[in-house]
Amino acid sequence: MTGIEITTFNGAQAALKHPDLAQALYDDGKLVMEDALITLHGADHAERRAAEYGVFNRRFFRTYESETFPRTLRPVMAPYLAAGQADLVELGYRVTMNLTADFAGIDRDEDSIEETESLLGLVKIFSTGATQVHTTQDPDEINRKVAVALEEFEDRFLSKSIARRVALRSEGAALPNDVLSMLVARSETLPLAPDVLRREMAFYLQAGAHSTANSTTHAFHEIGTWAGDDTKRARLLEDPLFLQRCVHESLRLHPASPVAWRKATRDTAIDNRPLREGDRIVINLHEANRDTSVFGADADRFNPERDLPPSIWPFGLSFGYGIHACMGRGLDGGILPDARTTDKPVQLGIVTLLVKTLIENGAALMADNPPQPDTTTSRSNWGTYPVQFERAA
Ligand code: HEM
Repeated sequence: MTGIEITTFNGAQAALKHPDLAQALYDDGKLVMEDALITLHGADHAERRAAEYGVFNRRFFRTYESETFPRTLRPVMAPYLAAGQADLVELGYRVTMNLTADFAGIDRDEDSIEETESLLGLVKIFSTGATQVHTTQDPDEINRKVAVALEEFEDRFLSKSIARRVALRSEGAALPNDVLSMLVARSETLPLAPDVLRREMAFYLQAGAHSTANSTTHAFHEIGTWAGDDTKRARLLEDPLFLQRCVHESLRLHPASPVAWRKATRDTAIDNRPLREGDRIVINLHEANRDTSVFGADADRFNPERDLPPSIWPFGLSFGYGIHACMGRGLDGGILPDARTTDKPVQLGIVTLLVKTLIENGAALMADNPPQPDTTTSRSNWGTYPVQFERAA
């Protein structure tokens, strides 16, 4: 995209909270993204975000992490542990599929692996459709697949999930804590057309799954490369907060999307540069997160022991900032420890929990089967990441 590019940390923060800059990254992915929360602006965005925000509360995250997540992780991990090996990219997607479906409010039969696999297949198509600005594939072909996948999603998953919540509501029963329930409960005050609701659900499924799966693989790779010797490996398991710090350092180096895009909704200015209505801005999160004036001279290296300036998040801008800041940040990134949390159980975040599970099971690279980059996107993701389990915990 042509337009102004912002590469400094401070400039990126200012752009992400600028009220006159609207989302532009998904303009080519309208079929699956039009009117989804992340594409809205101004009052429309604020209203939808406020309605859905209730799902993403700290207390719920804590219970999800300590109770629901271990319960859903066990059956997903079991076949891989039994086989003694896994592809981390595939494993990451399977695990996070359940996670994002729980938060979106898409019901599955818990025992049906086939059903979860089908949902995952659909979500991967939505994800390619949403991020097609970075694709190396034919956009028309992608859109054809997206249209078919949306229909199948509605027929197999969405209609019955809506029907169950509508029935619960009419009986006066409690609704589950998920985004779909929030929207069903507000259907009179915040009505969404059926196709908008369908895209909102498709957006939630792919937003969380794609980023969690990729962030987990990146973190495992960075941490494994750094922790060459046994002393460092032991520290990772003995000190969960340090492991969380390592995951945050990896998140800083590998934002799920390397850039955010915005467009000016009126004549304004950013970073001391004038903007005309309609001008495009590339916020380079990858570069901003490696700004040496904030993260130090070795900003482009993985160094979980680096000193951070006060009030700078260890994961930089990888969960966004300001108006569209990620709703899943606390869930995936956990709660940052501070003086108030030292004597309480720590919420580590799903990515840290996943990496911890992999290390506990002795996950290690396979000498004759090295990881391969994903060639279907210009984003620096892993396409396959084979590991073997050297001990099953
Ligand atoms: C490691 C995992 C994740 C990363 C790195 C990540 C990153 C991001 C980023 C950078 C944005 C802002 C995009 C922008 O400003 O244009 C965002 C927005 C969002 N994320 Fe995440 N995300 C992650 C996981 C999740 C999960 C698990 C969920 C839900 C269960 C989620 C839900 C959302 C939502 C709803 C928004 C849109 C907020 C809005 O527009 O107001 N994310 N995420």
